[in-house]
Amino acid sequence: MKIAIINGPNLNLLGKREPEIYGRQTFEEYFEELKKIFPDIQLIYFQSNSEGELVSKIQEYGFELDGIILNSGAYTHTSVAMRDAIAAVPAAVVEVHISNVHAREAFRHHSYISAVCVGGIFGLGLKGYELAIRFLEERDETRDERDETRDERGER
Ligand code: DQA
Repeated sequence: MKIAIINGPNLNLLGKREPEIYGRQTFEEYFEELKKIFPDIQLIYFQSNSEGELVSKIQEYGFELDGIILNSGAYTHTSVAMRDAIAAVPAAVVEVHISNVHAREAFRHHSYISAVCVGGIFGLGLKGYELAIRFLEERDETRDERDETRDERGER
């Protein structure tokens, strides 16, 4: 199984950026931990500060991979282009936010992407990414089981 984690603007500064909100760990360090937790899943990490690059990666991975975990940062609250890219691809996209966006400024309460994601996690810190991977892993397993049942019944 192949999953991409895509982080949007300013998330390259994790560890240095407002640590009281986003913690003290860099994403690169955390990504190493994730790879150890999920040795059987092929994890890919991509970060960009540019909206166009993020849209292009969603388009690319969205047709190639089983799932995408997306923290689109501030573009969550501004970008119709991100929303349209997610809606255009077959991969399941899980929205993740490190902080509890609903406990923060009002402009963070609206997400352009939630409605086209399979679901979302917010406010659980970096742990949210691990939980999102677990969700996609389980979803993939139950989908395989459903496919097998259909094969056995000759429905496919
Ligand atoms: C964020 C929340 C966004 O509102 C903010 O713009 C970010 C990070 C989070 O992970 O909590 O850059 O997506």
